[in-house]
Amino acid sequence: MSKDIVLSGIRPTGNLHLGNYYGALSKFVKLQNDYDCRFFIADLHALTTSTDPDALHQSVRGILAQYLAAGIDPEKAAIFVQSDVPELSELYLLMNMHVGIGELMRTASFKDKARKALGIKTPENDSEEAFEQQIIGASTNKRVNAGLLTYPTLMAVDILAQKARWVPVGKDQLQHLELTRRFARRFNSFYGVEEFIEPEDFQFTDKPVKVPGLDGSGKMGKSEGNCVYLIDEPKVLRKKVMRAVTDEGPQEPNSPVSEPIANLFSLLELTSTPEIVQQFKDAYADCSIRYGDLKKQLAEDILKVTDPIRERTAEILKDEAYMRKVLARGADIARAQASETLREVRHIMGIRKI
Ligand code: ADP
Ligand code: TRP
Repeated sequence: MSKDIVLSGIRPTGNLHLGNYYGALSKFVKLQNDYDCRFFIADLHALTTSTDPDALHQSVRGILAQYLAAGIDPEKAAIFVQSDVPELSELYLLMNMHVGIGELMRTASFKDKARKALGIKTPENDSEEAFEQQIIGASTNKRVNAGLLTYPTLMAVDILAQKARWVPVGKDQLQHLELTRRFARRFNSFYGVEEFIEPEDFQFTDKPVKVPGLDGSGKMGKSEGNCVYLIDEPKVLRKKVMRAVTDEGPQEPNSPVSEPIANLFSLLELTSTPEIVQQFKDAYADCSIRYGDLKKQLAEDILKVTDPIRERTAEILKDEAYMRKVLARGADIARAQASETLREVRHIMGIRKI
C-alpha cells in the first residue's frame, strides 16, 4: 500500500530559529520514516514580502543546509525549491479563476501583512469597509502587491498539486489550510470531479507547540527580534540567553510563576531532561532559585541541540555539488506529481489540444 503524502514548506526569509525547529522542522524529521514526505523552500511566497534578490538567494541556500543539518534525510524525503516546479505557477493561475478576491481580503494573514507593509495600526473596531478603504486608498508610495493577496491560492496549489493528505504547520497557518480545503471542495464540486484531496493539519500532540521568545512575552518569531537561531555561535547564544527577561524572584514559597519565568521553564522543558526541569521548579517553589543558574543551564542545553546543527550547516554550505544533487532529486519527485496534476486540471477545465 502506498504511504500518505506529507507536505510542508518554510519561507526563506532569514535563518531558522528554535520556534521553527520545535514548531516545524523537528516534526518533519520524525515524519520522514513513516510517510511519503516532501519538504520545500517557499521562495515564491517569500517574494510577496521580500525584495532583496541576494538576500533571497542566500536564504534559500541557508534553509536547505539547515533542513539537512537538522536531520531531514534526502533519501527518505524529497527536498525541493518551490520555483524549481514551474507547474505550480500555471496551477496557481488556473486556481485563481476559482478564488474570490473577497475571501482573500478577509484572510487574517493578509490583513496583518498588508497593514504592516503600509505602516497602518490595527484599529479597535476592525470593519471590512474600513480595511478596504485603508488598502485601496493608501496615499503612500508603498504597495500591497497582488501576490500577497493571492498568497493562499499559491499555498493551496503547493498542497493540492502534490495530492498531500497531511500538512504539518504551526497554528498561524491553519486558516490557510482551511482555505485550501475550501478551494479543493469548490473545484471538485464545480466540475463534478474528485480531483483534489482535502488536506488536514498534522500535530503530534493535542496542543500545537508554541515556542516563547526571550523577551518575556509572546512567541519566538523573526519579526519579533527575540530569537535564538539554530546557527548562532555559542558566545552569541549564551549572551542572548543570559539577557533574557526575568522578574525579581519568588518572595515566598510556592508563589505563582510570572510569564517571563514560565517562558524560560517552557524552553527548558523543550531542551532539558525532566530531572533538571524538576530541580529548578523545586528551587523556585522553596525560593532558593538563582535565575543566573537557570539561564546558564538553559543556554548549555539549547547548545546541545543547536551546536551540532550549526556545525553541520557550515559543512553542508561548502558542498555545492551535494546541495544541487539533493534539490535535483527533490524537484524530480515534486515535478512528476505536479505535472500529472496539471495535466488533469487542464483537461478538466477545458484546456485541451484541438
Ligand atoms: P516566523 O514567525 O519567525 O516568520 P515562519 O512564519 O516562517 O516563522 O514559520 C515557519 C514555520 O515555523 C511555521 O510552520 C510556523 O508555524 C513555525 N513556527 C514559527 N515560529 C514558531 C514558534 N514560536 N513556535 C512554534 N512554531 C513556530
Ligand atoms: N505559508 C507558510 C508559512 O508562512 C509556508 C508555506 C507555503 C507552506 N506553502 C506551504 C506550508 C504549503 C505548508 C504547505 O510558514
